[in-house]
Amino acid sequence: MVPRNKISILIVDDELSIRESLKGWLKRGGYLVETAAGGTEALAKNAESRFDIMLIDVKMPAMDGLTLLKKIKETDGDIAIVMMTAHGDIRDAVEAMKLGAYDYLLKPFDLEELSLIIEKLVQMQTLAMENLILKERVASFTRFENLVSQAPAMVKLFETIVDVAQTDATVLITGETGTGKELVARAIHAQSPRCYAPFIAINCGAFTDQLLESELFGHEKGAFTDAKNTKKGRLEMANAGTLFLDEVGDISMKMQIDLLRVLETREFSRVGGTVTLRSDFRVIAATNQDLQEAIRKKTFRADLFYRLNVVHLQVPPLRERPEDIPLLAQHFLWCYATETNKKIDSIQPEAMEALRRYPWPGNVRELENAIERAVVVGKGRQIQLNDLPFVIALGGAAEMEKLSLEEIERQHIARVLAIEAGNLSNVARILRINRSTLYAKIKKYGLAH
Ligand SMILES: Nc1ncnc2c1ncn2[C@@H]1O[C@H](COP(=O)(O)OP(=O)(O)OP(=O)(O)O)[C@@H](O)[C@H]1O
Ligand SMILES: [Mg+2]
Repeated sequence: MVPRNKISILIVDDELSIRESLKGWLKRGGYLVETAAGGTEALAKNAESRFDIMLIDVKMPAMDGLTLLKKIKETDGDIAIVMMTAHGDIRDAVEAMKLGAYDYLLKPFDLEELSLIIEKLVQMQTLAMENLILKERVASFTRFENLVSQAPAMVKLFETIVDVAQTDATVLITGETGTGKELVARAIHAQSPRCYAPFIAINCGAFTDQLLESELFGHEKGAFTDAKNTKKGRLEMANAGTLFLDEVGDISMKMQIDLLRVLETREFSRVGGTVTLRSDFRVIAATNQDLQEAIRKKTFRADLFYRLNVVHLQVPPLRERPEDIPLLAQHFLWCYATETNKKIDSIQPEAMEALRRYPWPGNVRELENAIERAVVVGKGRQIQLNDLPFVIALGGAAEMEKLSLEEIERQHIARVLAIEAGNLSNVARILRINRSTLYAKIKKYGLAH
């Protein structure tokens, strides 16, 4: 409970005797109390330092109490306001409650009653504050580095990350596409004593053998036709830090041998170079492939696998942690609404239901893209079912498997028409059909355009 000497109360009344008697009573109760003789003074004082509670007389000569109440509610809805009114003016009291006053007191006052009202208000404000603190605490529990999650399997993963980060052990992260493997790798680095040195990532699947070799080991000037200058490799750049070998399952058998040698010795030389270089890097690898299967198929070396798989972290797919769907959706909504300066702050229940039902083959990345898109096309304060990508919205509106092909076609055309505001050229381009086919379909399905 907030101590009374932290609760500030402003008494607004044109009658000095009332101001003084109330002030005396409340001060003896331990509150911080100030007074104002009218609305203008009250507003000025509140602008200087905000009050928690205001007691406002309804009948005042210059600005009446109801006007003052309205003005305050416009700028700060959280100040608790109690109106003071004479017995005959109950209608004013009702009006005040409609305008958002918390309660009213009838003159002449029963000071005990006033104390009770204030007590209750303080309790309410304490509760509101505690809720806020709780929310913040929950927020920090569900976030680890840049990973947002409340699923038990993920929370366990966070704990393992903290432990593993303290060691230099090589880590292999597996999981479907878009589950957050790279974020996990970055979290390990950020939690480790190597966090002040660089985190160097390389997407092994994105290069030919020759390019991958020169990216990893660097090259000397003239080592090959395009090598106009000497270039440091990523192994060198990762010195004292972490080397992240992404898509490690895509490396060719030939490069696997080179990589294995480096991982065993931490020694290498640049392409076209003769000097042996050493680098002190910690290795984290990731793949969405089943490496055991690849070993059986002889596309991945068993010895390299064991070298990488010292610690194995498995990131679960999103469909196995459904409790994360609303959490992540809200998280991405905040991110993208802030980025695009849009006043969208929630997701309509029907749309949320669709998000929950969808199986998310592209995992968190797919969810992120869906929300980003919804924020872009969204109009009101809430994300609507129709703002979501078609397959997701459809899964929420009805079970897609039960719809006929025609129905799916009709709904899809209707959605694209709505999104493109009836611009038929755009719609035809998106649907990849010509305009006369589009006309025919619009007619067939009786769609408005
Ligand atoms: N738990 C999470 N909290 C917040 N954002 C997440 C989370 N998991 C994934 N993301 C976001 O989803 C996207 C995909 O994550 P990331 O690149 O780490 O996945 P990945 O497993 O490496 O995917 P791929 O196998 O396709 O490379 C990123 O934009 C990332 O920020
Ligand atoms: Mg990745």
